Amino acid sequence: MKSNPQSKSQSRPQRSAPRGATRAMTHPLLATTMLAFAGLPALADDAALQKEAAGHFKPIPSMVPAVKDNAVTRDKVELGKMLFFDPRLSASQLISCNTCHNLSMGGDDNLETSIGHGWAKGPRNAPTVLNAVFNIAQFWDGRAGDLKTQAKGPIQAGVEMNNTPKVVEETLKSIPDYVARFKAAFPNEAEPVTFDNLARAIEAFEATLITPGSRFDQFLEGKLDALDATEKTGLKLFMDKGCVACHSGVNVGGEAYYPFGVVEKPGADILPANDRGRFEVTKTADADYVFRAGPLRNIALSAPYFHSGKVWDLKQAVAIMATSQLGAKLSDKEIEAITAFLGTLTGEQPRVELPILPVSTDRTPLPK
Ligand code: HEC
Ligand code: HEC
Repeated sequence: MKSNPQSKSQSRPQRSAPRGATRAMTHPLLATTMLAFAGLPALADDAALQKEAAGHFKPIPSMVPAVKDNAVTRDKVELGKMLFFDPRLSASQLISCNTCHNLSMGGDDNLETSIGHGWAKGPRNAPTVLNAVFNIAQFWDGRAGDLKTQAKGPIQAGVEMNNTPKVVEETLKSIPDYVARFKAAFPNEAEPVTFDNLARAIEAFEATLITPGSRFDQFLEGKLDALDATEKTGLKLFMDKGCVACHSGVNVGGEAYYPFGVVEKPGADILPANDRGRFEVTKTADADYVFRAGPLRNIALSAPYFHSGKVWDLKQAVAIMATSQLGAKLSDKEIEAITAFLGTLTGEQPRVELPILPVSTDRTPLPK
């Protein structure tokens, strides 16, 4: 409820109601009838809708999920949080994970494509780190199997943090408080300050970045009035039109790979020819322009859209998906309803207390 209080009140007054129905605006049955008048199909029974949805989607759990081969302990999470916010992981000592995955802004940077070391513009849009722990694999092309593998990428990428594992380890070892924290987070290890353990700590912190309690999840859990009539219509359309074939499960996507343009390939303005997606990972022809179906949790917070970041308006992204993935032309009303539904996927944002980072010493490598 509190995650997106506006969408509820906004959707009502705009609808053109037939004369005489205005008085009964708040009555749910009449509101349904009015939807039919407005050119949308009448809603099925709410309980049936809830049941159908529960067959496709799962709520975000309220507890931090377990991570494979990496116990999520308090010491590790705290260390991972510090590392996530520490710009000294980058060569310039200016760019942290939080620069591009801003936890005050939905876990991404809201740029077309990210800006990294030396103001270099990267090739892809930054996905959110929120709920990333539930994705089948990381990156738009799934090239990192898990979050600990993923975390090593940006630190070394020239257009991101442009650093090396060696310099990162030197930096961490030069700061006594970090050394103590690695010891606590990885007890029984002779040499705990390693690039691998840094990645493990970041993964443990990222596992805490989940957003339960969205209005959609409340609906899934049986609170049938958690969505308004338009949002319910949008949910129904999302399932009936076939979006759910690729966007389902706990993250409403992020589970499998599909060509962008199953039915109709979008133009090069949206799908640039030089980014062939999963082809670069598998080198097989069937992976050409294949990408992971976007996880749609908190999608209203993470414009612009698609791996190219070329689309700023969520309604336009929905329309493009309909034509490119389903060969369907949706009416404006249908697009609005689906977009309203997507707005209900915004959950409670993780409350992260800004970590105070230990100061550098005279042994800490200088910024480059
Ligand atoms: C310069 C901006 C930038 C920085 C700094 C950065 N990232 Fe990213 N991140 C991106 C971009 C862009 C992608 C998508 C790249 C791709 O798919 O090829 C990404 C992808 C990810 C993903 C995958 C999410 C998903 O849904 O697939 C995770 C997780 C992530 N980054 C975490 C981190 C962590 C942890 C750090 C710090 C060690 C970090 N990032 C630093 C820009 C950045
Ligand atoms: C055949 C599989 C498939 C179907 C059907 C499908 N999608 Fe997608 N969706 C994808 C893929 C793949 C992507 C990632 C595209 C890219 O490379 O940017 C995506 C991306 C998206 C995005 C952007 C995510 C982001 O983070 O930028 C939205 C929004 C979206 N889909 C909504 C929908 C809606 C709404 C429908 C139904 C009208 C739908 N999709 C149908 C596969 C599908």
